[in-house]
Amino acid sequence: MARSSASNIRLESSAAETYAAVRAAQLAGESVGLVPTMGALHEGHLSLVDASLAECDRTVVSVFVNPTQFGPGEDLASYPLVLEQDLRLLEERGCWLVFAPQAGEMYKPGHGTYVDVGSVATLYEGACRPTHFRGVATVVLKLLQIIPADRAYFGRKDYQQTLVIRKMVSDLNLPVEVRVSPIVREADGLAMSSRNAYLSESERQQGCLLWQSLKLAEKMYSEGETEVAAITKAMKERLASTEVEYIAFAAEGTMDEVTSIEGPTVVALAARVGKTRLIDNHTIG
Ligand code: PAJ
Repeated sequence: MARSSASNIRLESSAAETYAAVRAAQLAGESVGLVPTMGALHEGHLSLVDASLAECDRTVVSVFVNPTQFGPGEDLASYPLVLEQDLRLLEERGCWLVFAPQAGEMYKPGHGTYVDVGSVATLYEGACRPTHFRGVATVVLKLLQIIPADRAYFGRKDYQQTLVIRKMVSDLNLPVEVRVSPIVREADGLAMSSRNAYLSESERQQGCLLWQSLKLAEKMYSEGETEVAAITKAMKERLASTEVEYIAFAAEGTMDEVTSIEGPTVVALAARVGKTRLIDNHTIG
């Protein structure tokens, strides 16, 4: 066990020691919540920590920039690393233990086992980032083996990721309750993201267009437009100064594409602003 120089929070990098600490707490009758993260924490992450603190006796946060969910040419090498700052925020919040392993602790040489959840991982984000969800599902399963939490907390910001996790938990009979918290936004509507740190001031203005386009979709629907093609066209116009990768309309709780809005529908999108890839989503209908 280590204590960070910034705080008294318990910091572990060993999988075996983390497992032992979590099991000891559970055998003493305490419930444990896990919040998996890649660090560079913001209020979006901390809202998941708060949800865990409210429901569980002990909250574990993992901080691990998972190499297997980054594709070639993505931002693995430049992903922000600010562990001391993260530890301070987590201690202030009341988190018990932070598991921050080195890559070699998670992936031994010759690692060869991956989790593939099937079709929910293949569209939209999965189509743009073909090995992304395989890496996410694999690391979340590994984290749940190391930290066999009673509940695990995820953000709605990564809507498709929550479906991938739920599918894995269901298909593999994992004994964990999955909780999903709403998107936390900046005052101007931009969904909080560790990647927002990459944005220049002008790119930051463009980043707000994602939320504006989602609000536009909501407004059009509230004014009677139900055809996805018409709403998508208007959204693309609003997003013209960005590079849109996809705009998806799916029945709430699924990735099943709809062509007209007849019930609760998730509008999810990805767009590039400069070199930065942003995602967002909103439910209408
Ligand atoms: P990361 O991007 O660090 O996000 C960790 C968790 O915080 C995810 O569940 C994400 O959906 C949630 N989150 C991020 N921004 C949010 C916001 N603005 N509002 C609400 N929740 C937000 O997602 C990952 O890491 C990784 O894929 C991980 C699950 C840790 C596996 O490596």
